[in-house]
Amino acid sequence: SDAERIDDLLSRMTLEEKAGQLTQFFYLKIEQSAEVDLDSIPEEYRAYVEQPAMVEAAIDRGATGSVLFVTEPALANRLQRRAVEETRLGIPLLFGSDVIHGMRTIFPVPIALAATWSPSTIELAQATAAREARASGVHWTFAPMVDITRDARWGRIVEGAGEDPVLGAAAAAAAVRGFQGTLGLENVLAGPKHFAGYGAARGGRDYDDAEVSDSELWNVYFPPFRAAIDAGAENVMSAYMDLNGVPASANTWLLTDVLRREMGFEGFVVSDADAVRSLETQHFATDQADAAVRALSAGLDMEMCMFDPASWRLPQAIRDGAIAEATLDQAVGRVLRAKLRLGLFENPYVEESAAARVLNDPSHRARARAAAEESFVLLKNDGATLPLDAESLRSVAVIGQLADSRRDTLGPWVGEHDIAETVTILDGLRRRLGGAVRVEHEAGAGIPERVFPSMFDHGDGDLEITPSDYDDDAAIGSAVALAAQSDVAIVVVGQRQNQIGERSSVSSLRLGGRQEEQLQRIAATGTPVVLLVMAGRPLDLRWADAHVPAILEVWYPGTAGGDAVAATLIGDVSPAGRLPFTWPRHEGQVPMVYSHNRTFKPDEQNARYFDEEGSPLYPFGHGLSYGQFEYADLRVDRSSVAVGESVTVSVAVTNVSDRPAGDVVQLYIHQRSGTSSRPIKELKGFERVHVPAGETAQVSFVLGPSELRYWSAATRGYVQDATTIDLWAGGSSTATLTTQLEITP
Ligand code: IFM
Repeated sequence: SDAERIDDLLSRMTLEEKAGQLTQFFYLKIEQSAEVDLDSIPEEYRAYVEQPAMVEAAIDRGATGSVLFVTEPALANRLQRRAVEETRLGIPLLFGSDVIHGMRTIFPVPIALAATWSPSTIELAQATAAREARASGVHWTFAPMVDITRDARWGRIVEGAGEDPVLGAAAAAAAVRGFQGTLGLENVLAGPKHFAGYGAARGGRDYDDAEVSDSELWNVYFPPFRAAIDAGAENVMSAYMDLNGVPASANTWLLTDVLRREMGFEGFVVSDADAVRSLETQHFATDQADAAVRALSAGLDMEMCMFDPASWRLPQAIRDGAIAEATLDQAVGRVLRAKLRLGLFENPYVEESAAARVLNDPSHRARARAAAEESFVLLKNDGATLPLDAESLRSVAVIGQLADSRRDTLGPWVGEHDIAETVTILDGLRRRLGGAVRVEHEAGAGIPERVFPSMFDHGDGDLEITPSDYDDDAAIGSAVALAAQSDVAIVVVGQRQNQIGERSSVSSLRLGGRQEEQLQRIAATGTPVVLLVMAGRPLDLRWADAHVPAILEVWYPGTAGGDAVAATLIGDVSPAGRLPFTWPRHEGQVPMVYSHNRTFKPDEQNARYFDEEGSPLYPFGHGLSYGQFEYADLRVDRSSVAVGESVTVSVAVTNVSDRPAGDVVQLYIHQRSGTSSRPIKELKGFERVHVPAGETAQVSFVLGPSELRYWSAATRGYVQDATTIDLWAGGSSTATLTTQLEITP
């Protein structure tokens, strides 16, 4: 059995080999040609150039059990051979990587996948990513990111599923199922991250500490982790920052009491990069040995790092009596168990000749396109501006740098993609409209670059426009002139892919550079404008919302993104994505969530701000369609039930338009009294449906103790109250069709 094999290995391992299994090294892909003269490299960079050789030496002595960022089959096999065939115990390496929204085939970014409100789409996307990752030699992904994100300034909002715990939990479970499947040869281990509260960083500033109340942790931040664990996640990554004053990576309450005892997690916990070493930097641990001991004692198993792991101090700490060997063995056992469960002892190598076939599988590109089409959110569509009538169009102006940037179309966190096969919005429109329509592009207003590229941007040389050497006046002038001569202007605004993600927080949500001024000048030409937003966070669209008839959020849509955008604009498909976050009017409202509690002046909107409306620009769950839906017959099968019992809630949704279309049926509740005050609305169920023209779909949801219980600070535990519950069903969090349910003691 696995347990016997683990015990046998543990009985033969030295303390150093055990510490090695708890160490994970980055493998820096730095070109090192034979001619490089190390002496000519500045001192501070030399260690980076020498880093891969240092990792290989560690593999040879069994001093590392895992390596990240090895994504080429030949390299993976070469390193694996050293571990399996040339070390004393032959324990295979576990290769991890950030496979966030695709490997070779890039799917829409995670926030866009969440906007599909379709767990089956998320599962298929991540199963596809897993298949390509495993074919590349990767065994484990540091995904999904299941942090609840309620602050649009925080860059990592693009990597999560938004603000809501129910949507977040469904997305988390679907991603884990997709990645891990049956833990077969086309699957990878999933590592939901970053446990926990990372998204609550003060002011949206990445890595800042988070102060989150217990009730918010239990009711909002923990549910997606619990769902990921219930779905079988084999790994969890601990967060960098202090949670309520204690670093998450050495937080016993988090890593042991909550994660293992309460949530029943049995896998292994890895730290975020250098998060154990930085326990000293954060002035929590006295030195690196103390850092290693406190992380391990708290429940962390593996340390991810670049150089000089703190975990290598563990053997001495054990000899000094600072920690028991049994604690080390427990962690090593968890890591070995993951390797056994993945079959690495039997199948340590990747089949190099199979990779190209898997990575070039055309069905993967088709799935990426379908996911992109499902993710777009039609924010506004006055006068049925969209879909465009391809028959009557003669000329289309496509404006914006983002409209023809392959790298930006893919979004952040992409690895082994092939930039050349990426379809931009311009490519997609040209392909869809063919030669009969003149489709011309002007890059227009420059979007200011980041001062430095994102840490993990591998770069493709595709960021051809850098505003510093760019004549904005001339470029905007050309864009406006092209729009003026065209039947329609499709203007793409947003943020470049390296303006969002890790270490990419912003203090302003305004469109960068002169994008808004350009939009105003284009609108003034009188040519109808369709605005496409390429971004991973809400941006300040107040002007656009007031003046532009049609606005479509396209996120960073991935490899086949341009084809998906064109199909949506022309009406081959109807958009049915929904916002997974509340879209504020501007950053002064942040953080803004739909599920806040009632105040003592619930009807006084201007008690919220006297200089700005209290409402968001677009509510959570919002998204329009080319179809039109009517809701009726919201019913609860029993109007009164006792605490602990369940009811079935059903609603009829009719597509009253003359075209087939998708809709996302959403169920919200509010409880009128209880042990704690509860939010004015909480999502409790959702289902994405496709409804043929003129037809009705019946949708039902179960509402029982698991939906109605919550964690109360009054009792410091879960409660379900006897109370009156209001229910609403509809196509967004502003749904008005309502009924009631009595819960009796
Ligand atoms: O997985 C990531 C994590 O999300 C942020 N820090 C680096 C890790 C490895 O790339």
